[in-house]
Amino acid sequence: MAIDQLDDRVILTSESNPKTQLTILNYGATVISWKINSEEQLWLSTAAKLDGSKPVRGGIPLVFPVFGKSQAEGFKDLPQHGFARNSIWEFLGQTKANPPTVQFALSPELANPDVYSKWDKGDNDFTLLLTVELDDQELKTTIEVENTDKKAWKFNWLFHTYLRVDDIEDSLVNNLPGETCYDQIVKETYVDKHPAVDFDKETDRIYKQVPEKKILQVIDKGNVLHNVQRVNLPDVVVWNPWIEKSGGMGDFEPKNGYLNMVCIEPGHVHDFVELKPGESWKASQIISTKNKDIQLLS
Ligand code: BG6
Repeated sequence: MAIDQLDDRVILTSESNPKTQLTILNYGATVISWKINSEEQLWLSTAAKLDGSKPVRGGIPLVFPVFGKSQAEGFKDLPQHGFARNSIWEFLGQTKANPPTVQFALSPELANPDVYSKWDKGDNDFTLLLTVELDDQELKTTIEVENTDKKAWKFNWLFHTYLRVDDIEDSLVNNLPGETCYDQIVKETYVDKHPAVDFDKETDRIYKQVPEKKILQVIDKGNVLHNVQRVNLPDVVVWNPWIEKSGGMGDFEPKNGYLNMVCIEPGHVHDFVELKPGESWKASQIISTKNKDIQLLS
């Protein structure tokens, strides 16, 4: 694999196919592009800020130590989704040849001080290690969170993945029906009884404790576009801002871009993970286009 390290980003190019490429910004360690044989798999707003002035609208922003806003002690002052996505991570280099693997790290010294200082008054010592593996048709991102402090603390984690689709109105997400979700639009918890998740309006749901064996598949007119697998990430957020909400976001362009994206966000957000001093926690998201068979699990 060729690795190009530029000032603000790292580009990985597959040796077997130079048209398979991954671009990771140092800002947020945000994957902003993943092309398989020239075909882009992720959605990125054309107005996304890539200069570190704002979290990236698109790609795979990283959410830590809080999902959304929380009134829990130590989290109240943090802005939505925490500080991992608006801190500049350190590129540690290539760590494995096959599959080609690179790593990024974040610690209090590197974290955006304005935001980090709002988490328990900036008093929690931690290390985040992000491992990114690029295969022919698969992208695996693994996060390891370590408590390097002398006291326990807690956190949420989430991969805020913006997947590209041809037309959201022709797309479905399977294997979530039957699961309990908190619907952030109507502010209610219910069991989703639809045959599949479909989209014709703003959608913002947190599915809780979804069994790991369930692969989340984005299906476009009967064809499986993306398979999302999770390791140690029990919750799944499904989000599409639709017309009004995306219209109000200055960094969301083109304005009809909501038709070409769906966020499938594996995370640990229903409750916090608590780590005692010296403990660590590890989780992965694996997105692939390999499996074309529809998986139906109840
Ligand atoms: C999703 C949330 O994960 O992120 C939504 O469920 C939120 O409620 C969306 O609107 C985007 O958040 P942000 O902070 O990137 O605009």
